[in-house]
Amino acid sequence: MNLLLHSQKRSKVPGDSKQMINARQAFLENGHYMPLAGELTHFVTSHLRAKDELDMLRLLDLGCGEGYYLNQISENLNEENINYCGIDISKAAVQKAAKRKLIANFAVASTYNIPCLDNEVDVVMQVFAPCNTNEVSRVVKPCGHWLHVQPGPEHLFEMKQLVYDSPAMHVQEVPETIEFEVIDQKSLKYTFNLLGKADRLALLEMTPFYWSISEVKKQILLEKLTSATANFVITRLKKAS
Ligand SMILES: C[S@@+](CC[C@H](N)C(=O)[O-])C[C@H]1O[C@@H](n2cnc3c(N)ncnc32)[C@H](O)[C@@H]1O
Repeated sequence: MNLLLHSQKRSKVPGDSKQMINARQAFLENGHYMPLAGELTHFVTSHLRAKDELDMLRLLDLGCGEGYYLNQISENLNEENINYCGIDISKAAVQKAAKRKLIANFAVASTYNIPCLDNEVDVVMQVFAPCNTNEVSRVVKPCGHWLHVQPGPEHLFEMKQLVYDSPAMHVQEVPETIEFEVIDQKSLKYTFNLLGKADRLALLEMTPFYWSISEVKKQILLEKLTSATANFVITRLKKAS
């Protein structure tokens, strides 16, 4: 699958900041979200098994950031029958993704205007990134799948407890579309330890908190946040035939 490269108007989004991108890469490379990469690999493996051996599986990551999850899947599977593609609105993130060893097509593009032909993709993956349901529906093949990952209710709750007096749980959303049906939904929850001040700073910088809380609160987080809960809700949807 070739991404259809045409120039798209880029909007300034918080995820665009180089500082945030560097922080996310440093944090992810410490392995804290590896269990999620394992779950995504597991889903992709089950799609591979269902396919004809000679067919390429076309996997597209929407809002791929620095390509961490595609890279992990490719390392876990060591499988040549997958065509890896990723798009992100952030040029700096895509440049980092493109520098990985992984053989993949990456493009700077919006998930609201996906540079793919209609009915071209077997599996769309979307981890903590915005998208347009109609666009996903347009590019996914009939009977193709959509792996939608959002923060679960308790995701990084310890951080919120240090920031807010009455922290709220994340609210769950399921993509609403008549063209896809929800096959299953899985909650993944575990606690991970932060590996020191640099790791804590990376986590802080990759979240919107870094841009919104006071210096005092930042220092409290950097001193006290020694572990946190990772909570992901993975919804698998299937497009109608
Ligand atoms: C929270 S980050 C997640 C990145 C990656 N999926 C991960 O989990 O490591 C959200 C990503 O969505 C990207 N993004 C935001 N709006 C976008 C849009 N309209 N089209 C494409 N990417 C977008 C940001 O640049 C950022 O890389």
